[in-house]
Amino acid sequence: MSLARVSAILVVIWIVVSAWIIATPIGGVLPAATDHAQSIDFLFKFMMVASVAVFLIVQGFLLYFCLTYRLRKGESEDLIGSDIHGNTRLEIVWSIIPTIFLIVLTAMSFKVYADIVATPKHAYIIDAVASQFQWECDHPSTKPEIKEFNTCHMPLGEVTVKLHARDVIHSFWVPEFRVKQDAVPGYPTEMHFTTIRTGQYRLICSEFCGVGHSEMYAKLYVMNQKDFDAWVKQQEQANSGGGNLSNLSFSKDIEPIFTAHCAACHIAQHFANLNLGSYQGLQAGGNVVPGPIVKPGNHKASTLWQITGTTGPYPGGARMPLGGPYLSTTELTKITNWIDEGAKNN
Ligand code: CUA
Repeated sequence: MSLARVSAILVVIWIVVSAWIIATPIGGVLPAATDHAQSIDFLFKFMMVASVAVFLIVQGFLLYFCLTYRLRKGESEDLIGSDIHGNTRLEIVWSIIPTIFLIVLTAMSFKVYADIVATPKHAYIIDAVASQFQWECDHPSTKPEIKEFNTCHMPLGEVTVKLHARDVIHSFWVPEFRVKQDAVPGYPTEMHFTTIRTGQYRLICSEFCGVGHSEMYAKLYVMNQKDFDAWVKQQEQANSGGGNLSNLSFSKDIEPIFTAHCAACHIAQHFANLNLGSYQGLQAGGNVVPGPIVKPGNHKASTLWQITGTTGPYPGGARMPLGGPYLSTTELTKITNWIDEGAKNN
């Protein structure tokens, strides 16, 4: 087969594969939930098409030359091939084409990058606070300020996420958003995007931050403005009363606290037996049994009180790794009051 025919075959393969890449929407596998997603998907496809060309040229001709210039039957193993030394024209071509490609790619990437870092004027602001191993989303424009743990609600439209880290470096990543940004202790970072699709997504920590890194994810909700406003109103009302602090119910008052704050770390036996589920059913599904963890009527002797009580030896959970407290005063009061009331499992 001639070199020209091989080249023609490779070009045809490249056109077919490229057409398939261009025609396959990435959003079909991973929805595009922000405006950045569309431009980043375009860049990704552009690079894929170019990579396929490089792959075909290198592997295609490698295979072709292996077959064409193989040692044939009867030929001596010491046979000397033709002595080729350089080809200036070819070398110029294969230097200039990649150079032009890289310049174009840089220009396209820079345009996308500039869009990503541009600060929008009317963005909804969220303070995302990362710590080992949970996400906290605060809404500074609400009163009293809404603080979410392991969930994050945001409206459709322009959003600015201001990132903070309490202990080590974490990273804010939602695959459907296509963008990510590190949260660095002592160094505030930001990210901006316009959400274009409502739904529930996974907010993932994408920086290895310790043994609980793989457990560090939160549910992220993008809501239309009406639903979001209703959610904010509901949260503000629930917070303004300081919450119900007597006649506490396990399922209504206590379990959500455990789920939001404690479960991120204390979820599995492999965390040095810090499994909440093994602590007499403190987590969902089990019975709450009085014992060293929960001591109704004598909460100061209870391990849980010592960890959560504001005047205990480990106030606010500060005994837990790096940068407690993890719980608000209201939540701490709820837990201690609940133990005092007999730690009822209702
Ligand atoms: Cu936080 Cu990984």
